[in-house]
Amino acid sequence: MSPVQVRPAAFFGYDLMYLTKEEERILEGGSGEGPAKAMELLVAIGKIYDADKLIPIESAQIAGVSYKTMGDAGLQFIQDFSNIADVKVRSLLNPAGMDLEQKNYESGVFRDKQKKLIRAYQNLGIELSCTCTPYLAGNRPELGDHLAWSESSAVSFANSVLGARTNREGGPSALMAAVIGKTPNYGLHLKENRSPDIVYEVEGGVSYSLLGYLVGREISDKVPYFRGVSPTEDQLKTLGAAMAATGSVAMYHVEGVTPEYDDFDIGNLEKVDIGKDDIQEVREELMIENEPDVIVIGCPHLSSSELNDIAERLKGRQRKDGPDLLVYTSRKVREENKEAVREIERFGRVISDTCMVVSPLEEKYEVAATDSGKATAYLPKLADQEVIYADIETLMEMID
Ligand code: F3S
Repeated sequence: MSPVQVRPAAFFGYDLMYLTKEEERILEGGSGEGPAKAMELLVAIGKIYDADKLIPIESAQIAGVSYKTMGDAGLQFIQDFSNIADVKVRSLLNPAGMDLEQKNYESGVFRDKQKKLIRAYQNLGIELSCTCTPYLAGNRPELGDHLAWSESSAVSFANSVLGARTNREGGPSALMAAVIGKTPNYGLHLKENRSPDIVYEVEGGVSYSLLGYLVGREISDKVPYFRGVSPTEDQLKTLGAAMAATGSVAMYHVEGVTPEYDDFDIGNLEKVDIGKDDIQEVREELMIENEPDVIVIGCPHLSSSELNDIAERLKGRQRKDGPDLLVYTSRKVREENKEAVREIERFGRVISDTCMVVSPLEEKYEVAATDSGKATAYLPKLADQEVIYADIETLMEMID
């Protein structure tokens, strides 16, 4: 590696940024216009965050896949970029705006534009796996792997539960990292930035959705350390997603559970108690006097065990009346659990490639009930829904 001065004409100043000869060649356009643009953005980000160099990544996970959030301008940008670039590492997509194989509630125009957007991403060499749980759908990073992922709940899971290392990328920066196969070395790629900031002593038996909802709101982008709880992997997924939604938590530790909890000295950190009363307060705050017209489950996308748990709860029951039921999971999990899907589809739909937030749910529904802290935070803003938060037992009772 050789230190080179980043060209002041291309960037904002005169600071040193270390590029290899090959990286410098790409920046100068030696691999074409697309890689040069990608390198330009990565170096600019690296400079803003004081990164010393670019580091190789194992995979990229790219948000900005739903036509609902991208619109025509986003579609045009991805189409144009797909004509001048290809990804260099394994790359997957976040949920799109619809199930790519089923027809649900979206309009014909929406479907047409969404398909064009997906084709443009495929043209870049990106795998057609539209899920926020890539780690349950064939791309499970290992301890210490560097990534460029952009779905906030997946970022949280990768850092905290798997011990991989990724910043909370935006869709564009994850895409540019995919094209170069590298990302700037700063933030959560560095061990010292993964240390906890505050210890939460939690009374056991609480809802992880509500715990995450509460802590995310209080802690913003800091790194929490939990003590007193022993969540399963599915519960960790739920907890991290909620904290990433009400705050911007990208990393957390759970004593005795997550892989890096013991790597830091927490002796001098502030300690905060969270009891069942605190969680009950959040539950009451989220209560609304209304009947749901849809129940949405699967934010983040359900694991096989969660999907089977729902099927088990519905077994032997008969559909009568009540709200629609929409259950979201990755295509891989749906295909691997056909019996559970059949059971659930006696009552509603099991949907892949999309979710309740990034699909046009508002075209058909107004009041949604969910057990997800993240969906509770996002559905009012992004899908124009009144939201009823309820645990899974209560949601199942609503179906009768
Ligand atoms: Fe996944 Fe959509 Fe929730 S992307 S985490 S199901 S908002």
